[in-house]
Amino acid sequence: MKIYAAKDYSDLSRKAANLISAQIIMKPDAVLGLATGSTPVGAYKQLIAWYEEGDLDFSRIRSVNLDEYKGLSGEHDQSYRYFMNHNLFNHVNIRKEDTNVPNGLAEDAEAECVRYNGVIAAMGGIDLQLLGIGGNGHIGFNEPSSVFEKGTHVVTLTEETRQSNARFFASIDEVPTHALTMGVGNIMSARKILLLASGEAKAKAVY
Ligand code: GLP
Repeated sequence: MKIYAAKDYSDLSRKAANLISAQIIMKPDAVLGLATGSTPVGAYKQLIAWYEEGDLDFSRIRSVNLDEYKGLSGEHDQSYRYFMNHNLFNHVNIRKEDTNVPNGLAEDAEAECVRYNGVIAAMGGIDLQLLGIGGNGHIGFNEPSSVFEKGTHVVTLTEETRQSNARFFASIDEVPTHALTMGVGNIMSARKILLLASGEAKAKAVY
């Protein structure tokens, strides 16, 4: 494990974008595991800027996102599909059909989890998994625990996680109670993992 200390958020974002770019340049058909939350937004902005300058090509890149709220459609502005479209996919030349986010509206969420594991396996696994971290240490939506699920699964969000994500919704009542998330097994199977943490609120979780 390597720890890169960054001066500030823009330094962290540039360093992260550099590492993601290296992956894209070294393997133009790489599978990127992508994350939502406010932390990776700066890195995504930097990747878009380098794409616009002609330095990056996403045309053969495939992606799998970590998680999605159960009950939100991809058109809902707080869904993670919407987040990815607006913060990255719509601004680079990745093919939308090569981007994957769990379907929060699947009637059978358990079956959707099985399908999603199959998607990751069919792509040959993840080359680089980008992660943020929750204030309580959650990864994707895997809450701290002594026992972890290996594969994609449905989780009941903790009150703490719902409260900390409530800032994006009109009220706490609108924050979904469940989510579909890759398991720790899916994440740990990635060939490389890049975890980003920014700000004092994450210090305890990182420690
Ligand atoms: C959500 C996501 C996580 C993310 C976390 C931290 O709960 N499911 O994947 O790491 O938020 O978000 P932020 O980067 O906004 O602090």
